[in-house]
Amino acid sequence: MPTALDGKKVLVIGGAGLVGSHVVEALLEEPVAEVVVYDNFSRGTRENLDEALRDPRCRVFPLGGDVCQRDLLDAAVAEADMVVHLAALWLLHCHEYPESAFEVNMRGTFNVLQSCVRHGVERLVFSSSASVYGDAVSEPMTEEHPFNNWTFYGATKIAGEQMMKAFYRRYGLRGVGLRYMNVYGPRQDYRGAYIAVMMKILDCIDRGEAPVVYGDGSQAYDFVHVRDVARANVCALKAEVEHGFYNVGTGVKTSIRELAELLLELTGSDLGIRYLPGGESFVTNRVGCPKAAERDLGFRWQIGLREGMQSLIDWRREHQERLHAMHGRA
Ligand SMILES: NC(=O)c1ccc[n+]([C@@H]2O[C@H](COP(=O)([O-])OP(=O)(O)OC[C@H]3O[C@@H](n4cnc5c(N)ncnc54)[C@H](O)[C@@H]3O)[C@@H](O)[C@H]2O)c1
Repeated sequence: MPTALDGKKVLVIGGAGLVGSHVVEALLEEPVAEVVVYDNFSRGTRENLDEALRDPRCRVFPLGGDVCQRDLLDAAVAEADMVVHLAALWLLHCHEYPESAFEVNMRGTFNVLQSCVRHGVERLVFSSSASVYGDAVSEPMTEEHPFNNWTFYGATKIAGEQMMKAFYRRYGLRGVGLRYMNVYGPRQDYRGAYIAVMMKILDCIDRGEAPVVYGDGSQAYDFVHVRDVARANVCALKAEVEHGFYNVGTGVKTSIRELAELLLELTGSDLGIRYLPGGESFVTNRVGCPKAAERDLGFRWQIGLREGMQSLIDWRREHQERLHAMHGRA
């Protein structure tokens, strides 16, 4: 049966990153004509695209890839029927560099919206974030939950959504914004200062140290696997709804303590958990209601935490072995 993606050219902005590279792969499972990646590779990597680029329908836009370079962006959007926009500076980067956050996340998103209108793009899917909600005042958070955000990052996502609304009302630009909960899975960062909690726990286990959990470990999140998030993007491109913002999560609440216990179990470790006082985090409680996305986009998550964490552990191990082998050869 033909779908809305038959024969389409899709531009994936930020397509070399964690979510973007999985979106590219999910799109290539569809009967699309072409998938073009537009990325400045500030965080994304060519390696993330290794698989996808074997498909002759996939390529990297050759002239450049920055959302702040308006003419180049415009040239890339001109060739596309549909656009997925994922390029952004992330939470801690925005925290440290609010001006860059403004340039990339807000101005950059505005540039994308303008180019989409200029070139009559049929549909745009924008990566928003559950950060727009901040700490939950009611649970599970539906799309009507207030914007209880206090971060620069969340502010840029709210701005992006509001711009999208205005572009829809003013120019009829169709599209959907997706508010991801906590995304995890293969290709997730595990080096550097700002790594996700699950990678820190796995690092501890590797070193033979009991993983550290701050406070009592009751901080709870909605962890959603990156391949499910990628599928949500594809569903959003295919959906008929003209405009809207949707949670992308599981609706399942997992505490950091439960996460640490699961990782200990999956790695066959009997180290136990070391609880330490303190540990600042931006948001301590967040679970999204997935019902609206299921109703309007036909998206429902499939990968549970156990299976998903196993895929992360396997990928991390393989990736580390590859890095060691490469450095051994160097
Ligand atoms: N990972 C999460 O838990 C999560 C949660 C909520 C929302 N999001 C949003 O989803 C999107 C994708 O997130 P991700 O986790 O894949 O992040 P990521 O950093 O892996 O991917 C972002 C991509 O954008 C690119 N990029 C950055 N600045 C750019 C610029 N100026 N021009 C062009 N490309 C640029 C990066 O090189 C990278 O490939 C982002 O918009 C992010 O804010 C992510």
